[in-house]
Parts: sequence; C-alpha cells; structure tokens
Amino acid sequence: MSTPTHWDTAYAAGDTTRGWYQPQAARSVDMLDQLEVGTDASIVDIGAGASVLVDDLTALGFTDITCVDHSPVGLAIARERLGAAADSVTWIEADLRTWSPPREYDVWHDRAVLHFLLDDADVERYRATLLAGTHPGSVAIIGVFGPEGPQMCAGLPVRRYDVAMIDRLLGTEFERVSSNIADHVRPDGDTQQYLWTAARRR
Ligand SMILES: C[S@@+](CC[C@H](N)C(=O)[O-])C[C@H]1O[C@@H](n2cnc3c(N)ncnc32)[C@H](O)[C@@H]1O
Repeated sequence: MSTPTHWDTAYAAGDTTRGWYQPQAARSVDMLDQLEVGTDASIVDIGAGASVLVDDLTALGFTDITCVDHSPVGLAIARERLGAAADSVTWIEADLRTWSPPREYDVWHDRAVLHFLLDDADVERYRATLLAGTHPGSVAIIGVFGPEGPQMCAGLPVRRYDVAMIDRLLGTEFERVSSNIADHVRPDGDTQQYLWTAARRR
C-alpha cells in the first residue's frame, strides 16, 4: 500500500537514485510552454515529492507554486535543495485521496502519481479533486505509465494507462490537447514508458 512511510524510506535512501528521478523536468516545462502558460499562473504539483519541477519553475520566474505530497521526507528534500526560494512555495503535506484543494489552480501537474491509485474509488476521488482544484480554462498535465510501462514502481503495483483511460478520467469537463508516449531513462539506465497528456478545462 502507498503509505507516507513507504515513500519516506524510499526518499531517505537517496532521491537522485530513485527510478523516477530526473535532473530536469524538461517535458513538463515544454508542455507548459506549448500550452502558453504564463509565469503568473498558479501551479499545483500533485505528488511532487522531491521533484525538481519546482526548481525549474522557480528559475523560469513562476511565483505561485504549490507542492502536495504525503511524504514529509520527499518534500523536505525539495525544500532544502531550493534554499531561500522555498519560502515562496506553498508546501502541503497531505494524502491526495482525502485532500480538499483550498483553491482552484491554473495548472494541475501530476508526474508518476495517478498510476499508484489502484482502486476505482480512489481514481474517482482523484477526478473529483482535479475538478475541485481547477476552473474553466485551467490546464492539466498528467504523466503516467503507458500501456507498455512497468507494472511495479518503488516496490508498489501500478495501473498502466492508455489514452482511453485518461479520457475517461478527464470526462467531458476537459478537452484533451495532446497525448504522447515517451520513455523516461532511469538513473540506472533502464527505460520506462510514460503516457503524457495535456488537457484544458472547458
Ligand atoms: C514516483 S514518485 C513521483 C514524484 C514526483 N512527481 C516526480 O516526478 O519526481 C510518486 C510520489 O507520489 C507521492 N504519493 C503517492 N501516493 C500519494 C498519495 N496518496 N498522496 C500524496 N502523495 C502520494 C509519493 O510520496 C511520491 O512522492
């Protein structure tokens, strides 16, 4: 089961050696660029953990960034790495299965989190949280394991996604703008197939 303790232990073993580590969040930044998201946009990174996306966004001049994760160790690594810049980021320690977004964000970003939700009820709750945390015009960027992706990650089983599954998640409230298959190269050199989707809320 995906508990905070499980993820704390994984991060404590070294965030840069974890399979999902990437030195730069290049694809996410490219997608924001393609969607013409301005640096004044509010962005929530769902299951941010120790991700470097917050570093990249800060360097680009984004000023309204929220990182949500249930692992305090993961978030602490990102905070410490950012140094003083961390003070302008909103850090929320919460389980996204029960989290109520305190506001609507212009951008919902999720890399490698949704696929850990195995129960249909949790996926349905994720969808409800996505809707509660966005508004018409918001964009969603979601990167999950694709049809040929791994069946386990971080010692946990995952649900692999195809475009039809993502479309069901987005429902009629979102219009899919793009979906692309891309390989992530892990620190150990292995590759993992991701399905990246960008969508705009109607
Ligand atoms: C594979 S890591 C990806 C981290 C980050 N998005 C990245 O791209 O580096 C999955 C992250 O999701 C978080 N996570 C998993 N289940 C969660 C849940 N139910 N609520 C909040 N965070 C969760 C984990 O703590 C971990 O940081």
